[in-house]
Amino acid sequence: MAFSGGPRPESEQRLCKHPPMAVRRSGIRFQISLLLLLSALNGIFLLTVIVGLFASDPTSVSAEVEDGILSVLLVWVALFTLVTVFSAFRLQKSLSDPMAMLSDAARRVAGGELDRAIPVQQGADELRDLSGSLESMRQNLVSSIDELDDQNKTVTAMLDALRDGVLLVDEKHRVESWNPAAEYVLEQGEYPRVREGQRIDQLLQFDASLFSDQPSQTEQDRETARGSFHLSVHIQPLPKGWVVVTRDVTKAVEITNLKQEFMSVVTHELKTPLTAIQGYTRLLLMGKGGDLSPKQADLLTRSREQTGVLYKMVNDLLDASRLEGGNLALDIVPTDLPAQVEDAVSAFSGEALRRRVKLRLRSQLLPGSVVQADPMRLQQILGNLVRNAIKFTEQGGKVTLHARTHGGFAVLAIEDTGRGIPEEAQRHLFEKFFQVERGDKRLSGGAGLGLYIVDQLTRAMNGTIEVRSVVGEGSTFTLRFPLVEAP
Ligand SMILES: Nc1ncnc2c1ncn2[C@@H]1O[C@H](COP(=O)(O)OP(=O)(O)OP(=O)(O)O)[C@@H](O)[C@H]1O
Ligand SMILES: [Mg+2]
Repeated sequence: MAFSGGPRPESEQRLCKHPPMAVRRSGIRFQISLLLLLSALNGIFLLTVIVGLFASDPTSVSAEVEDGILSVLLVWVALFTLVTVFSAFRLQKSLSDPMAMLSDAARRVAGGELDRAIPVQQGADELRDLSGSLESMRQNLVSSIDELDDQNKTVTAMLDALRDGVLLVDEKHRVESWNPAAEYVLEQGEYPRVREGQRIDQLLQFDASLFSDQPSQTEQDRETARGSFHLSVHIQPLPKGWVVVTRDVTKAVEITNLKQEFMSVVTHELKTPLTAIQGYTRLLLMGKGGDLSPKQADLLTRSREQTGVLYKMVNDLLDASRLEGGNLALDIVPTDLPAQVEDAVSAFSGEALRRRVKLRLRSQLLPGSVVQADPMRLQQILGNLVRNAIKFTEQGGKVTLHARTHGGFAVLAIEDTGRGIPEEAQRHLFEKFFQVERGDKRLSGGAGLGLYIVDQLTRAMNGTIEVRSVVGEGSTFTLRFPLVEAP
């Protein structure tokens, strides 16, 4: 909706239709100036006559002539006084009545009484202008109020149509107004009903500190007359007060929980037969089912590899769904890092050899460099990063795990001389199922879950991860974990 405060050409025209006041002969200023001029001329005339009389030789003017002049002067003064009084009276009449009417009309407009038009005042031009301007102001005010009224109706209709509850809260945390959905979403149960002036922290049972000059977001389980449901609440500061948006997300939360449950059950159920297949294949390869021809051994080896890929994928899906649901249990203990980095590198030496990539460990860690971590999950983190580095590096390339301590932190950097990662892709790397190129699914044999799991596990162990990469030159993933005293 556009809230425009632009000029109103029509009213401007109305305001400017008269010529400038100084040039108009029926103006108040003109009439007063004329009166003053006449008085001044009259004064000069009288002064001249009186000075002439006094200055003349008394013997040269006879007494009759003197009397005659005085009588003429008397008549002149009387006539002039009459004209002046009459003009002043006319001026007063043409000013005071319309002024009284105008001030009355202005008072009505100021008091909000806008339905009566201000009559155009006859007489002096200035008063006509003034009444015209006041009428234009009244009309502009009426149309602005109508416009505001329309906008208000539209906003109210929009708020009424919203399915989210919206509450306006004043600076003292009291509810000022709300839409119908707010009543529905916050329907009473053990909670009080929404009413004007009610404290919002009591209504929503929230900590008042959530109402600050920054937007905030929170969630709440709520028992109401309709049963229990999950509420998401967004608090947006306004210049005076806040707007609180409440949304019933019960369904969405239920679906997410169901999805996680489903993932967890399916992946768990898939693991059992996969473990059995892996076991049987291993037995066959060991010759427990009889001698194998080279062809059979080759096919079985490939089958074992593919089962391994599938097994890892199922495990990753299970981990990702547990991490998302916040129910992946970690066994955090003081963990010796030198042993961990050696294990991680030696676990991939075979794969690096197969892919003709040189895998090295450059460790400056002193014995007794210990971090708080889940050793199995730390292996998973390092394994994912080393596996990626090998996968995305051409034959003849190098992958190096650098390990050192710096400023109370253990710094583990997995560096490769591989294809690198474009800058715009780097910020999505730790998202679920993200892969830089279409062919990566086939190339990596994975689903794009590795880095998501790495990031989540690293955070859960109080660590950080960052990536630096230049396309065509290689990538470095750097992990930092706070060092702790060796036990
Ligand atoms: N060292 C690397 N060099 C270049 N690209 C990389 C590197 N590591 C990750 N990537 C890119 O990031 C994507 C996501 O990596 P991630 O480990 O999450 O998934 P994945 O390896 O494809 O599959 P998964 O790990 O689930 O088996 C990869 O598909 C690849 O495009
Ligand atoms: Mg990976």
